[in-house]
Amino acid sequence: MTRITFISADGERRQDVDAPVGAVLLDVAQAAGMPLEGTCEGQMACSTCHVIVDAADFARLPRASEDEEDMLDLAAGATRTSRLSCQIVLDAAIESLTVRIPGEFYNMQGM
Ligand code: FES
Repeated sequence: MTRITFISADGERRQDVDAPVGAVLLDVAQAAGMPLEGTCEGQMACSTCHVIVDAADFARLPRASEDEEDMLDLAAGATRTSRLSCQIVLDAAIESLTVRIPGEFYNMQGM
């Protein structure tokens, strides 16, 4: 199990979710009601599944592939600790993970 903490784009809401080993972060986020579209369903062709990972957690994750990096270059509001959530598969070594939803989604949805 990995304890995932999602932080809303405005930083005000936190939600903890337990996810099993082998789960894809995008699926976990969508199941928790996070506003990530994931339009291309993990084909690395959209970047609408972009999340901002806590800096300490980011360092513990396997590195992004070059294709993922290229896609992140196009993602609105990307930061140095941005990742595509469809490319993050939870493994037993990841006990906890904190991610923030990027602001653009917050604005786009007019919430
Ligand atoms: S779902 Fe499209 S890049 Fe992740």
